[in-house]
Amino acid sequence: MVSRQIKNVLVTGGAGYIGSHAVRRLLRAGYAVTVLDDLSSGYRIAVERSSAGLFQHARFVEGSISDRAVTVRLLRESGIDAVMHFAAFIEVGESVTDPAKYYENNFAGALQLMQAMNEAEVKKLVFSSTAAVYGNPLSTPISEEQPRMPINPYGRSKLMVELAIEDFAAAYGLGYAILRYFNVAGANPEGLIGEAHEPESHLIPRILDVACGKVDTIGIFGTDYPTPDGTCIRDYIHVEDLVDAHLLAMEAIHGGAGKVFNIGSESGFSVREVIEACAKVTGKSIPVLEKPRRLGDPAILVASSAKIRNELGWQRQRPDLETIAADAWAWYQRRSDLFTKRVA
Ligand SMILES: NC(=O)c1ccc[n+]([C@@H]2O[C@H](COP(=O)([O-])OP(=O)(O)OC[C@H]3O[C@@H](n4cnc5c(N)ncnc54)[C@H](O)[C@@H]3O)[C@@H](O)[C@H]2O)c1
Repeated sequence: MVSRQIKNVLVTGGAGYIGSHAVRRLLRAGYAVTVLDDLSSGYRIAVERSSAGLFQHARFVEGSISDRAVTVRLLRESGIDAVMHFAAFIEVGESVTDPAKYYENNFAGALQLMQAMNEAEVKKLVFSSTAAVYGNPLSTPISEEQPRMPINPYGRSKLMVELAIEDFAAAYGLGYAILRYFNVAGANPEGLIGEAHEPESHLIPRILDVACGKVDTIGIFGTDYPTPDGTCIRDYIHVEDLVDAHLLAMEAIHGGAGKVFNIGSESGFSVREVIEACAKVTGKSIPVLEKPRRLGDPAILVASSAKIRNELGWQRQRPDLETIAADAWAWYQRRSDLFTKRVA
């Protein structure tokens, strides 16, 4: 159901994993969608597939959020009412070795986008943040009130955007929703779109690489943590549930103020549980290689979703690990070579 206030939505990074799911969800709900993506890690075909079988199609514009003039024109000519901002670089390890790349794209790029919004008088922004802004949390599950103390440039680049958003709200009347999440997994249940990062650092697709024989083993870093099976516990959220939260949060933006919501699984899953779920849904054995703990890996990282549940009525429709793994596996098997950036 489309509200009267928001009809036209710009999705930055809509050719990427989460962005393309948001595009499909928005189209299904009747919004007109424009995608701005420079295809640095996304796929044009993901935008095409996100409209498959639907009455409305997304408009795709290849370009960067850093190009303010292009963005202003786009916002004006498409009559954009709200922006969902997913475009970013996401590799934590790379952000440590090449922080400039992350500050430039994730922070300076977002600043250009927000200035373009200001110029075009677009006053609603949903920002894709990350639970990495908390760094090593003081306690789990992590609530929104915990201090933001990121421990890597990726997390810091996202925190800088959050701070800029808060200042833009106070000074220019920007309305916003900041959503923080950890590990997004699963795929569109129709198998049309899904996760296709290169390099892939996320656990579930890496386990699926082992399941189909592309890689020999999956490493487990630390088996002596104070958790029930000794392996780290992390937060996994189905991408479809996540994009539901984005729509709810966008519709709840009113005036020049904003809210911050964690999108979490509350209890999380251990690395071994994830491997077992993938073994079950694929029917394959997953050889593991146990390794020592990695420096700086907390035993448990899980976010609370109490706030968004209570305030916006968000509920996870796909909370169980097997559904997440099964949808990821269905996509993985159907994923075509069109979703690769590797040169043969
Ligand atoms: N995947 C996760 O588990 C996860 C967890 C927490 C937060 N996030 C955040 O969610 C967002 C989306 O993540 P994803 O997994 O879909 O990543 P992704 O790499 O699949 O998608 C990012 C998209 O942004 C585009 N892009 C990058 N820089 C751009 C620019 N300057 N201009 C235009 N387009 C640009 C890329 O081409 C790509 O299509 C990111 O902001 C990320 O920080 C992701």
